[in-house]
Amino acid sequence: MGGPGDGGRTAAGGLRPVATAPADTRSEELFARARQVLVGGVNSPVRAMRGIGRDPIFIDRAEGVHVWDADGNRYVDYLASWGPAITGHADPMVIGDVRDALARGTSYGAPTEREVVFAEAVTEAFPSIERLRMTSSGSEAVMGAVRLARAATGREAIVKTEGGYHGAIDGLLAQAGSGATTLGVPTSPGVTAGATAATRLVPYNDLAAAEAALEGAAAIIVEPIAGNMGVVPPAPGYLEGLRAACDRTGALLILDEVITGFRVARGGAQELYGVRADLTCLGKIIGGGLPVGAFGGRADVMRELAPEGPCYQAGTLSGNPLATTAGLAVLCRLAEPGTYERLDEGGARLEQVITGSGAPVTINRVGSMLTPFFTDAEVTDYAGATACDTDRYAAVARALLARGVYPPPSQFEAWFVSTLHDDDQFRATADAWAGALDEVGA
Ligand SMILES: Cc1ncc(COP(=O)(O)O)c(C=O)c1O
Repeated sequence: MGGPGDGGRTAAGGLRPVATAPADTRSEELFARARQVLVGGVNSPVRAMRGIGRDPIFIDRAEGVHVWDADGNRYVDYLASWGPAITGHADPMVIGDVRDALARGTSYGAPTEREVVFAEAVTEAFPSIERLRMTSSGSEAVMGAVRLARAATGREAIVKTEGGYHGAIDGLLAQAGSGATTLGVPTSPGVTAGATAATRLVPYNDLAAAEAALEGAAAIIVEPIAGNMGVVPPAPGYLEGLRAACDRTGALLILDEVITGFRVARGGAQELYGVRADLTCLGKIIGGGLPVGAFGGRADVMRELAPEGPCYQAGTLSGNPLATTAGLAVLCRLAEPGTYERLDEGGARLEQVITGSGAPVTINRVGSMLTPFFTDAEVTDYAGATACDTDRYAAVARALLARGVYPPPSQFEAWFVSTLHDDDQFRATADAWAGALDEVGA
């Protein structure tokens, strides 16, 4: 952990000083203030760290594989901003390009050459994406893809897998993973019965259930490698089986690659498993840490979208110059030879570190994303994931944080390794795991 930081620079930073009750740390003080003005003190639920039974840590800055909190403590980061930071934080190439873009204006509400170059890069990486539409978040991308699937097929039902998370979208907040699972909200209040009436839930990795549910459905939306119940890879033949079932029933296969796109291979899980989606959703990495999403797929389906077709979708900041520039810089960086081999090696090293610590876990890993599940059973679906010892995960995660390693603050999330994690960090991570297990007696 690092020394004292510049967390108290409120005046220099021009932020409004607020009188607060005395707190032991700057994070505690900020959290006390935050709770007065932000719901739960955060802008996205899992950040509150309730899943690991502690208050949130406020972050001051990030660089490379490290984040620094408001008290100046340094952590080896495996959260990666929930996936985007694949080339490390504050990648000089991203910063440089965004700085140049910034000087040319932050948004025009009109098309740019950059969007064309960006779409060319994405369509080259994903052969199934013949046409692309950019959005400002993964949730919006999913919302557009689902509406388009309904418009293109003239059907309403959408098949969704239990534990799959596709953004905070009404129709898909049924047995959703990520924060919805962490907070124990199987289906959110406020979602109308009508919004989920056309959602058919099936267990992940259960091909027979999906085949039955696909009869008369517009589409199935699935994370090709589940990331939001912790990492759960597809069973052999599962994705191919979904493809065949979609072909038989006329439903569309929507692969939600918001996490896996450009993460497990340049062409995402589709490249890794040799499966072709009708529609693909992207986000996270393609924005280089700025707000972004995109969906795309078969030209004949995408043609239903306005302005070519009647299915409406739009966004004031869609394809905005900053996110497009940051995303392009990352896609360029990831095109360097050997990148995915290095990411896979990093993932393997982290897996070895955790296994070598003797932690009582089952590790699911695909390339640079993994989850150590506190169970001795195989985890192949949502039921398996939610049967894990989440208290033990929480205790170990808290102990890791105290030792300068930043894990996802929930059992139901993926750990991400970047291209920059190296021996030094893996050694530090090994020491932290050993100390954490010692402390919690796991
Ligand atoms: C698989 C998947 N789809 C969609 C989303 C929603 O993306 P965003 O948070 O950018 O709206 C997420 C977010 O974590 C995700 O993991």
